[in-house]
Amino acid sequence: MDLIATHTSADFDALSSLVAARKLYPRSRLLLPGSQELNVRQFLSLSKDILEFETERNVRLDDISRLILVDTRHENRIGKARELLEDPGIKVVIYDHHPRTKYDIRADKDTYRRVGATVTMLIDKIRTKRLRITPLEATLMALGIYEETGSLTYRTTTRRDIDAVSFLMSKGANLNIVSSFLNRGLSAKELIALSKLITETKVIETNGISIGISMMDADEYIGELGMLIQKLLDVENFKVMFVFVKMDKKITLIARSRTPFVDVNKILKFFGGGGHTTAASATIREGELSTLIKDLRCVINRTVRARVNAEDCMETRVHFISPDTKINEAGKILRRSPSSALLVRKNKKIIGILSGECIKKAVINNFGHSKVKGYMSTKIYAVRPSTPMHELKKIMYDKKIGHIPVFKKGKIAGLVTRSGILKSLFAQEEMAPGKVGLRHRHQTPDNLLNRMREKLPSQIMNFLRLLADMARERGCRIYVVGGFVRDLILGVRNLDVDLVVEGDAAEFARYVSDRLAITCVVHKKFGTATLFMKETIDGVNVKVDIASARTETYGSPGALPSVTFCSIKEDLYRRDFTINAMAIDLDKKNYGRLVDYYGGRGDLRCGKIKVLHDESFIDDPTRIFRAVRFEQRYNFKIDRRTVSLIKNAVKKEMFDAVSGERLREEIVLLLEEKEPLKAIKRMRSLHELRFIHPKIEFKKRQEYTCRRIDALCGKYKYYLERKRSLDRWLIYFMSLVDSLSLTETLEVADRFVFRRSDRLRVVSCKKGEKKILRLLTCRGGVRASVLYKNLEPLSYEALLFLASKCSSRLQEERLKDFIERHNGTRLRIRGEDLKRMGIEPGP
Ligand code: CTP
Repeated sequence: MDLIATHTSADFDALSSLVAARKLYPRSRLLLPGSQELNVRQFLSLSKDILEFETERNVRLDDISRLILVDTRHENRIGKARELLEDPGIKVVIYDHHPRTKYDIRADKDTYRRVGATVTMLIDKIRTKRLRITPLEATLMALGIYEETGSLTYRTTTRRDIDAVSFLMSKGANLNIVSSFLNRGLSAKELIALSKLITETKVIETNGISIGISMMDADEYIGELGMLIQKLLDVENFKVMFVFVKMDKKITLIARSRTPFVDVNKILKFFGGGGHTTAASATIREGELSTLIKDLRCVINRTVRARVNAEDCMETRVHFISPDTKINEAGKILRRSPSSALLVRKNKKIIGILSGECIKKAVINNFGHSKVKGYMSTKIYAVRPSTPMHELKKIMYDKKIGHIPVFKKGKIAGLVTRSGILKSLFAQEEMAPGKVGLRHRHQTPDNLLNRMREKLPSQIMNFLRLLADMARERGCRIYVVGGFVRDLILGVRNLDVDLVVEGDAAEFARYVSDRLAITCVVHKKFGTATLFMKETIDGVNVKVDIASARTETYGSPGALPSVTFCSIKEDLYRRDFTINAMAIDLDKKNYGRLVDYYGGRGDLRCGKIKVLHDESFIDDPTRIFRAVRFEQRYNFKIDRRTVSLIKNAVKKEMFDAVSGERLREEIVLLLEEKEPLKAIKRMRSLHELRFIHPKIEFKKRQEYTCRRIDALCGKYKYYLERKRSLDRWLIYFMSLVDSLSLTETLEVADRFVFRRSDRLRVVSCKKGEKKILRLLTCRGGVRASVLYKNLEPLSYEALLFLASKCSSRLQEERLKDFIERHNGTRLRIRGEDLKRMGIEPGP
């Protein structure tokens, strides 16, 4: 027989978990040890006849072979069930959402999930096993989740809790009943206790967080301190609350936290207690209240993490305009700016701020040609870089402003915006100790050094170390950037190392090349350089590209940019997507630190391709192909805003401004990816295909042929790859332009400046295709020599393309016969042989 038990002072999560566990272990009895919270007792008094529980007084333990514990792992909280732990023959199973500790019961099976309530874990199992539950059971389980998650508002609440509630509603859970049990009134004794606690509450400020501390010497026993502290929090509205209650020589310390920056579980460990990051308690047997409060203050000061200041959330790349700039011109400048406002400067003094909103209003009212001085805001409240976040929020709220300039030694250092604050709040929320749940998919640490050691060959690691040392000697900072960082986080092998130097890349590369005696090629036009390592990896000489941190301004869309040196932050901002705009710092003190100003790590985690600013595709339309390429490669999704920017750029015919070579390179890269068909279909959905040719169509029939290409490459690899490897992308390209005529195909080859050999392969296939397919179908039989004459001049790519178009067995067999038997056949006899045989030369 199984016994399911929970902790003493059972709350609704404990009670409902018992009921839910019985669904999974139907041949079991339920034990409610000790007493229960008042509202639980009230619920039980109504449902006693339907839900059967045993108490410590009437429970039998001699026939139990398995103990199932829910919502606890503490042996001193399970009452009489503890006796079963002494019998090694009894199996123990645990379901609990409290984090594990070293003092826990050792179980044969211990399930832990980071969810708001234990019952959520069990409901997941009930749903998977499609077990039935009654409306009363559903209501009780909903009570468990609502109570434990503060009606789904606590930080510990997860999507799974919300899903579970939605499931329970579909099973008839009654929210009226739930709310009547959750919001019970206080008894007279509790009201007196609450008013004592309110009177005793003192506030301390730590790093901008108001923390309430209260205490009470209770004359008589108070049952539900947890509920009392919850009411106290509601009244006082503190983010964090600690309450000491002295009862019977014992002191109970209860804590609640509504902010990710205060982990009360960690703090209460100093007092021998524990719980969650958001709720914890401790029982203290020795000590005076006054000294305990002093201790608590010390622990808080040591534990509460440093918070965010203006310099952490300000935008450093701020654009200045003069008060006489026209609104339309300011709009253009703002669109390229990472900030949402421009600073108006006159005689080196900031005299106003012009926000995007002001520009929008002016433009809507046809004042685009007016000067900004009539529209800018002159309310300027400046702060220092060290101004803490809570003060910034207060200034914005009290003064009703959305932008705060940050000054350092009299000079502008940056601009704090509402979205900057919001972003860093979310970023911190994610980094906060309690929110690890968000990270579980790709847990990316702040420092990637260990991951680099794991994933990279030692030759590259050693080379990077050397470069870092030399950068320090030269007084400049270097970073690894771009695709390498992205793939390192994703765990994808990528040995294309791109470095960025805050300084002159060419000069640095020459210095390295001299010191290490290695080859260096400087690309003067772009101010970049390539270093070739001495060591080889898999037989290949690895190269490292080095560029200066630079901003790029584009004279016209798609043109090559003009370049100025800048910081790494600005350099990353000019890049295509957030997931490619991360860097790894190689500075000695921070070696391996991930530099992620634009949320790349978060976007990688949720699989999002997102541009950094709205002008990205206008600056460089080839990024449209790149977006599709990365989306298909990693099975990510281009985010909604980015999709609409792509469609907009396509509508504006941005590709026309890009050189054919650059477009060709991108198309080739796209078709070289693992699943080109998916990419082609995605391009079709974004209307990108018409830029290859306005008449291009990619229909079901082409999809069908495309699907066969990879299999055919595999099938004939042995026969066709003896001399060179196949250009698989070209076969896909042939399929892509299948709907075009010969002239149209030639137009495409010209537009994209195809290499001679690629052009020849595509065109000769197009020319001969119809005739060859007819010959392959010819029912009356066709001589091998005739087939040979037509097929032999074709490239292998063309042969495979034709094979993908074969629609009958006969066609397939004939083509197979040619590829496997006749392809490459040469005459053994030559003219010289004939002459030697005595045959006269003649016509
Ligand atoms: N980049 C960009 N815009 C482009 C091309 C490149 O911003 N049109 C930036 C990106 O930061 C990119 C880096 O330059 O990560 C290096 O580009 P590249 O080597 O072409 O691409 P990777 O991102 O390394 O991707 P892949 O794995 O396909 O090489």
